[in-house]
Amino acid sequence: MLKRLFSKRDTSASIRTDAIPSALPRHVAIIMDGNGRWAKGQGLLRTAGHAQGVEVLHDIVQTASDIGLEVLTVYAFSTENWKRPAVEVDFLMQLFSTYLDKELQGMHENNVRIRFIGRMDELSPLLQEKTANAEALMRENTGLRFNIAVNYGSQDELLRTVRKLAAEVKAGAILPEDITAETMEEHLDTAGLPPVDLVIRTSGDQRMSNFLLWQAAYAEFYFTEKNWPDFTPEDFVEALQVFAGRDRRFGGLPRS
Ligand code: IPE
Ligand code: IPE
Ligand code: MG
Repeated sequence: MLKRLFSKRDTSASIRTDAIPSALPRHVAIIMDGNGRWAKGQGLLRTAGHAQGVEVLHDIVQTASDIGLEVLTVYAFSTENWKRPAVEVDFLMQLFSTYLDKELQGMHENNVRIRFIGRMDELSPLLQEKTANAEALMRENTGLRFNIAVNYGSQDELLRTVRKLAAEVKAGAILPEDITAETMEEHLDTAGLPPVDLVIRTSGDQRMSNFLLWQAAYAEFYFTEKNWPDFTPEDFVEALQVFAGRDRRFGGLPRS
């Protein structure tokens, strides 16, 4: 049986429902990498790679929602990405803004609940307003929990968390020994979300690049040589299949 997936670029995009493993990860995190290399390979500007990457993101969010995934978190812009040329940074911020304009209503209709993680307070006032409005619009939705990491760095997030807890200790609200893994998690940007089960990184590089270091402590990793603009719903499902075959031990003994 074929399940038709809506796609703006290719309406024939489809995945077989029997290809979807029954044991899905609860939380998938994606490092969407390789936009620049993809563009270079096509003889295009890096920005064209980012524009194509947004189209792929649309398809993957749709797929994640269709198959009933609980949580999807994507890395869109890191705290280190400000080092790039201003034209590229400006383009990415503009793209983010138009992405929200274009995609929000469709996601809302699909019962998706959006959330942003990272230092939103350092973004433009317009983006801060758009992201806050998006979260408010979809707050009651009960489908896919879709998180976009923008101006996100895991070390920055952990530092902010430690500062919040230190302030609570200083104010006498808690004792140092009250700080546990649970209190840490309650203060992270991802508070309330389950830990990451699977990290997917495209484009061949095998590193975390400051993404969800705490949350992915026991995540499985799936690396593919494909650049993000070439990543398809079928590739996404393949990563889920590979995940289903992994033996997760969490420090315990092997299954057999
Ligand atoms: C990922 O693609 C998108 C962002 C980091 C914003 P890159 O822009 O990093 O593309 P490469 O890795 O240079 O090919
Ligand atoms: C990681 O990709 C950040 C995002 C995908 C948004 P980078 O391209 O910034 O990572 P490095 O610099 O190759 O580690
Ligand atoms: Mg990169």
